[in-house]
Formats: sequence, structure tokens, C-alpha cells
Amino acid sequence: MAYPIHRMRRLRATEPLRSLVRETHLAPSQFILPLFVCPGEGVRREISAMPGNFQLSIDELVKDCAEAASLGIGGVILFGLPESKDEVASGAYAEDGIVQRAVRAIKREVPRLLVITDVCNCEYTSHGHCGKVVNGDVDNDATLEWLAASAVSHARAGADIVAPSDMMDGRVAAIRKALDAAGFANTPILSYAAKFASVFYGPFREAAESAPQFGDRRSYQMDPANGREAMREIELDIEEGADIVMIKPALPYLDLIRMARDRFDVPIAAYQVSGEFSMIVAAARNGWLDRDRAMLESLTAIRRAGASIILTYFARDAARLL
Ligand code: PBG
Repeated sequence: MAYPIHRMRRLRATEPLRSLVRETHLAPSQFILPLFVCPGEGVRREISAMPGNFQLSIDELVKDCAEAASLGIGGVILFGLPESKDEVASGAYAEDGIVQRAVRAIKREVPRLLVITDVCNCEYTSHGHCGKVVNGDVDNDATLEWLAASAVSHARAGADIVAPSDMMDGRVAAIRKALDAAGFANTPILSYAAKFASVFYGPFREAAESAPQFGDRRSYQMDPANGREAMREIELDIEEGADIVMIKPALPYLDLIRMARDRFDVPIAAYQVSGEFSMIVAAARNGWLDRDRAMLESLTAIRRAGASIILTYFARDAARLL
């Protein structure tokens, strides 16, 4: 005998009532803003498929970081566009690489801002793959050395967290071991634990100039059809020492965010990727949906599914609205 005793609409009647019973809250401190750093000075080049996002030279990057800090955003994650690319991704682990210099500049100018570095090779290899290519495929174990060296160089530059996104097996353990050996036992690892071979990374590859020059990433990134396998990936990364695990993309994979939240007791992050951002922005530009509401609804859904941290290109806009 539910109705008319129970009327679900009672608690929806006014905003104060809705606010009182709201289960999920957004706060700027939960957001991480992805930023793209490139060589030069005074460079602020808009990424055409990601309006409002730019390739920034270090001097400009520092300005955006100061703004992010003043908005109370949880932190930034950096992606680098090196001066030149080669077969061995030298720019990824060079002590004076673009990301390493950027981290030093941010730590000097905006010391209170949390800085995460993306640890991967695809922006640094001439072929655009995430590791060392041997016989037409990425060689897992050879790539681990590059990743470990990158992570250590980022930590040495002052990164607060390192975030491997390459999907090589064993990289969390390799990075943990290298960080500890170099005196960075306290640098956390945020692993892109369940990262899918997704079409939604399209705009990012323009932003980071990291599209593979042959083939695709399906021999290392996950098949979008596999949820149980995602739980195994996460479990292994936790065993190897990941402090925070991430699921990526976010909105098409809410089921896996929820599954991971229920199973694992580490902080869960989700990456609302470039394509998720661009779809909303494009639809809004066409007048097909309301940009702000679509942004907040998508972020709320990702939090409701169980992510405590969201990497999102909306970090600034959402922080301003909240
Ligand atoms: C690097 C990396 C990618 C993204 C984050 N780190 C691209 C890829 O794997 O091709 C995608 C982020 C986005 O789409 O916003 N490996």
C-alpha cells in the first residue's frame, strides 16, 4: 500500500527540500584540469575540436595554473608537446623535457597547486605509439624502462602525483620500484587502470599531437566490451601499488565506475575525456542542449556512479558555477 501514503514528489517540491535530500555533491576540489604544454613563449593556441582549451607555452600555462588554484580546483594534469619526437621517446624522460620544465615553473610560481603528470610515451614517439615498437607492436617490458624514467624525472621536477596512462602490464610496479629507489617513496601513483581503446580520445590526439601513425592502440588499451577484465586490471594495479585508480572514459563506462567503487577501497578517479567534452560543447553550440546543465549533469552522474575525483576539461567552468 504505497500510494497515497508515500508521495515521492513531496521532497521535490522546492529547491530547499531538493537541496536537503540531495545525495551527490560537486565541489571544485574534486576536479582535475588537463592542460597541454608546448614549447615557445606567449603561445596560446586554441585546440579546434576543444573550444576553450589551448596548447600553452610554459609562461602561459603558469597563468592558467594560477587561475585554477584561485578557483579552488583540485589540481591539474599535464600533457607535453615536445620540441621534437623520436623513436625512443627521449622527450618523455629528459630532465629538461617540456613537462619537467613546466612542473618546475608551476611549483615556483603557484606552489599551492597540486600537479599531476601524465606518464606516457605517445606524445614523444615519432610513430605516436605509447611505447617502444618492435616488429610492428609495442614491446611491453622494454617500454617499462621509459615509463619508470619518466615518472622519476617528473617526481624530481616536483610532481605531486604521477599518472601512467600507457596500459603496459607491470608498469605500476616498475614505476613504484623506480620512485622508491630514487628517494620518492612518498610520491603517489594514480594509475589509468582501466583505460579503453576509445573513439572518444579523438580531439585529445589533435591537442597532444599524439595520434598513432600506423595501426591503433587495441593491442594495449582495453576492449570496450569487457567489464570483468577491467576489474582485473584494477585489482592488479592495486596489488602493484597504485594509490588511486582511474577508469577512462567516464560517461560511457559508469557501470564500471560503480563496480569498482563497490569492490575496491582505494580512491576512484574517472576521466571525462576530450570526446565527451566536445560532444556537449558541439551540441550546445548548435543550440541543441544547454551547456551548463549538460556539464553539471554529466559530472554529477560520474560522481553518483562512485568516482571521487574527476579529470575534466569542464573543471574551470564547473568551478565557476558552483
Ligand atoms: C595518452 C593519453 C590519451 C588520453 C590521455 N592520455 C590518449 C590516448 O590514449 O590516445 C586521452 C584523454 C582525452 O581524450 O581527453 N596515452
